[in-house]
Amino acid sequence: MEEVTVVAALGFLLLAGAGGSAGDEAREAAAVQALLARLLGPRPAADFSVSVERSLAAESGLDTYRLSGGGAGARVRVAGSTGVAAAAGLHRYLRDFCGCHVAWSGSQLRLPRPLPAVPEELTEATPNRYRYYQNVCTQSYSFVWWDWARWEREIDWMALNGINLALAWSGQEAIWQRVYLALGLTQSEIDEYFTGPAFLAWGRMGNLHSWGGPLPRSWHLKQLYLQHRILDRMRSFGMIPVLPAFAGHVPKAVTRVFPQVNVTQMGSWGHFNCSYSCSFLLAPGDPMFPIIGSLFLRELTTEFGTDHIYGADTFNEMQPPSSEPSYLAAATAAVYEAMITVDPDAVWLLQGWLFQHQPQFWGPAQVGAVLGAVPRGHLLVLDLFAETQPVYIRTASFQGQPFIWCMLHNFGGNHGLFGTLETVNQGPAAARLFPNSTMVGTGMAPEGIGQNEVVYALMAELGWRKDPVPDLGAWVASFAARRYGGIHQDAETAWRLLLRSVYNCSGESCSGHNRSPLVKRPSLQMNTTVWYNRSDVFEAWRLLLATTPALAASPAFRYDLLDVTRQAAQELVSFYYGEVRTAYLNKELVHLLRAGGVLAYELLPALDEVLASDSRFLLGSWLEQARVAAVSEAEAHFFEQNSRYQLTLWGPVGNILDYANKQLAGLVSDYYTPRWQLFVGALVESLVQDVPFQQRQFDENVFQLEQAFVLNTRRYPTQPKGDTVDLAKRLFLKYYPR
Ligand SMILES: *[C@@H]1O[C@H](CO)[C@@H](O)[C@H](O)[C@H]1NC(C)=O
Ligand SMILES: *[C@@H]1O[C@H](CO)[C@@H](O)[C@H](O)[C@H]1NC(C)=O
Ligand SMILES: *[C@@H]1O[C@H](CO)[C@@H](O)[C@H](O)[C@H]1NC(C)=O
Ligand SMILES: *[C@@H]1O[C@H](CO)[C@@H](O)[C@H](O)[C@H]1NC(C)=O
Ligand SMILES: *[C@@H]1O[C@H](CO)[C@@H](O)[C@H](O)[C@H]1NC(C)=O
Ligand SMILES: *[C@@H]1O[C@H](CO)[C@@H](O)[C@H](O)[C@H]1NC(C)=O
Repeated sequence: MEEVTVVAALGFLLLAGAGGSAGDEAREAAAVQALLARLLGPRPAADFSVSVERSLAAESGLDTYRLSGGGAGARVRVAGSTGVAAAAGLHRYLRDFCGCHVAWSGSQLRLPRPLPAVPEELTEATPNRYRYYQNVCTQSYSFVWWDWARWEREIDWMALNGINLALAWSGQEAIWQRVYLALGLTQSEIDEYFTGPAFLAWGRMGNLHSWGGPLPRSWHLKQLYLQHRILDRMRSFGMIPVLPAFAGHVPKAVTRVFPQVNVTQMGSWGHFNCSYSCSFLLAPGDPMFPIIGSLFLRELTTEFGTDHIYGADTFNEMQPPSSEPSYLAAATAAVYEAMITVDPDAVWLLQGWLFQHQPQFWGPAQVGAVLGAVPRGHLLVLDLFAETQPVYIRTASFQGQPFIWCMLHNFGGNHGLFGTLETVNQGPAAARLFPNSTMVGTGMAPEGIGQNEVVYALMAELGWRKDPVPDLGAWVASFAARRYGGIHQDAETAWRLLLRSVYNCSGESCSGHNRSPLVKRPSLQMNTTVWYNRSDVFEAWRLLLATTPALAASPAFRYDLLDVTRQAAQELVSFYYGEVRTAYLNKELVHLLRAGGVLAYELLPALDEVLASDSRFLLGSWLEQARVAAVSEAEAHFFEQNSRYQLTLWGPVGNILDYANKQLAGLVSDYYTPRWQLFVGALVESLVQDVPFQQRQFDENVFQLEQAFVLNTRRYPTQPKGDTVDLAKRLFLKYYPR
């Protein structure tokens, strides 16, 4: 590739979405000032002055902030080249000068008084044109039921973490509905097509249709409203919202209205049959392709405006109908052509997941066909899982197309301590140094949020660093100190142990999918191998408990104590499961009864009890989010069932069973625990009767129980009960391995 072309292409991209006028500067500064008031309250916020000055980025062309002032009687001055840059500067000040911490589970915002002075004016530029956030799946696993208040907090979190590029995909089904009606589809055909709210991500990627639907009318109205507010707020900070575009998937009913249309039916996805998957893909050469694509984008941008970057995924986890490069190039070009018909400045944001998900299919010719079908600089690729399976290395930096180095980290919003901190720390800098690198940013693309906050804190910081953090041990210690508003030697040691164990996975098989037997359907073949030394987790548990007298008042500490207790319980389940299996295989009934009794009748109920002591680990609160999004009791019931399906069976017959597993009070007691009780009972029965254990029979029986949980309408507490420290201590005294 010629250097010149690459630079020119990237130059084009660097301009995409770059803001302009003085009016915008004032508006962005006001947005950050308002964020400050939300975060700290109006009085403390008045001790800061915020400005936005495009000229700050004049030299590098990259977002820059400048900090100064503070100290007795002086305001802290925060300036940024954009609102996002100013918010990132503000966060830097709160973090490094005030020892504060902002996180999903809660924030620690005790400000020193007077506000610490910035001794010398501090100016920092990010090396990244883009700091990206989200995965198409995050919208379903985490955001699906959110109201504006929750969105507002998230957008604040994004701004503080310096994120300037993020999906804004709410409300797109409302726009699609208009387009389909205009094309002549009936309302009932459209209702049959959309998935339910909890499964929209996969509907949008063409993996699924119909499952969990239909979408109520109220849903569309509410999402349109939310999308307008989300876009207004993102833009007010100078963030670039990425809107969706047409990827080629169409409802089957399109073939009723247009019998001549050339569609290909895709294969099935995710163990769903064709009642819910095998979507129809419009042929790239079909005259309807640009018509539908531009109808949608025109309707969408008329409603919402545009910042010229659009996301679309045609072949996500779906094998294309042909591996011919000419076909793949045509399918790609068709999507892009439809975009530029409406918006000549369109840049296509593509999730690069397909390339690493089906590497056998996506050989150099196939990857090249896709990457070459869009002019350089107009395709922006997310190297979605770059911390573990980077694609840029084997595609010569996406053959000259710009890409964003993304950490995926989490699958399905699972709990379970996990991270690849060393790899994440090194990854972006290494990608920037790659020969002829076309990296233009860093990103966070978790399927679900609200777990392992340390990992996201590091990645967000790397978005503004040129080099890796020099000493991760020290970094983790200061992370914990800010989080708790003070540190204690034992807590620091605990964090260093977590860093070297659960948070230091490395290699191609690292995945943030929690496969603990605790959250999986029991069998005799469960794999309990983990990448770390479990003793480190138990020791961290002991150390955190030893710290409780000093730190128990910190909500973040209580969260971590509970989370590590939860992890320890998960390790213990593996241990007792091993005992159960061995006892069973050796036909030792007494041992089986003892180990199985502990696992299914003592340990899991005790875990549920400790989870129930924290509002952040309640099934009741989780389901309540879905219920309050509804406008009637019938709809609340429907939304709740969508949510229960997503947590457990995922599809009608357990199609992607337990993929989105979580350890929530209520889910442990009424789903995971009865399942283990059934399993232990079946093994005991088998020994007593002297008949072999039948996994198939067990699976049929346990499915009844799993389905009953989904269909159940029991309401769960939304208020915590009991004291986390006491309950964690009780569990510890009983189970800590000696
Ligand atoms: C990088 O680009 C230069 C100039 O076009 C080229 O000569 C060189 O082979 C490229 N290096 C790699 C590793 O692709
Ligand atoms: C697909 O699975 C569902 C649920 O098990 C079943 O009701 C339906 O008949 C199946 N459809 C096909 C086409 O096999
Ligand atoms: C339909 O589209 C496929 C795939 O693009 C193409 O191979 C085929 O020739 C098309 N059929 C017709 C009748 O145009
Ligand atoms: C993480 O593991 C790597 C080897 O896989 C090792 O080199 C590194 O020192 C470990 N980091 C910590 C903090 O333990
Ligand atoms: C169990 O999982 C580990 C880690 O993922 C893997 O290395 C090992 O091969 C698996 N063992 C079996 C028996 O499948
Ligand atoms: C795990 O850690 C414990 C305690 O530090 C140590 O005794 C043990 O040898 C370690 N196990 C392995 C497999 O490294």
